[in-house]
Amino acid sequence: MDTIMVACYSHTGVSRRAALLLCAHNGWPLGEITDARPGRGTWRCVLDSLLRRQPEIRYEGPDPGDFRTVVLVAPIWMYRLAGPMRSFVARHKEALRRVVVVSTMNSGGASNAVGEIAHALGHGIVEAAAFTQREIEDGSGTARLLAFGEALQPGSTATQPMRQPARSAPAA
Ligand SMILES: Cc1cc2nc3c(=O)[nH]c(=O)nc-3n(C[C@H](O)[C@H](O)[C@H](O)COP(=O)(O)O)c2cc1C
Repeated sequence: MDTIMVACYSHTGVSRRAALLLCAHNGWPLGEITDARPGRGTWRCVLDSLLRRQPEIRYEGPDPGDFRTVVLVAPIWMYRLAGPMRSFVARHKEALRRVVVVSTMNSGGASNAVGEIAHALGHGIVEAAAFTQREIEDGSGTARLLAFGEALQPGSTATQPMRQPARSAPAA
């Protein structure tokens, strides 16, 4: 079946807000990834990213294997994928057959995260888009985010707005 769900990790709420917008607008279910050890400080996040660690996570939501397409929504840390999303991708690798990536960030690093996910999965991703924290918080990116989501709907002929080009596996 041509079904879509969203799986989100968010440390300070920005990515979660983007994920909730996508879900509410398209009627998609949301799975939430959280730190198994809450209260992790910023330095722990920095180290996880620099060392490409896979921190312990909890996941609450639908089984990604039940969906044809999974939209991964997460922040960028240190120009890399946020650690907990790295853990999620590793844990659910077999179930993630068609993956779309939505990154939130301050200024840059989304293409690295997309590349890392493709590398971990061993195959390319379907689409990717990046939004600044400001675009999500002040709503200036809402129209682009919703258009991006709508274009993923089965049967949509919409053109993806300003997608990230990186879809292939990166250098490790
Ligand atoms: C530890 C850490 C590292 C970050 N590194 C980057 C970065 O390399 N590039 C960037 O554009 N933003 C970076 N940011 C900003 C976040 O990606 C941005 O604020 C994001 O929207 C936060 O999403 P969240 O609220 O869902 O956690 C970093 C934030 C943190 C906490």
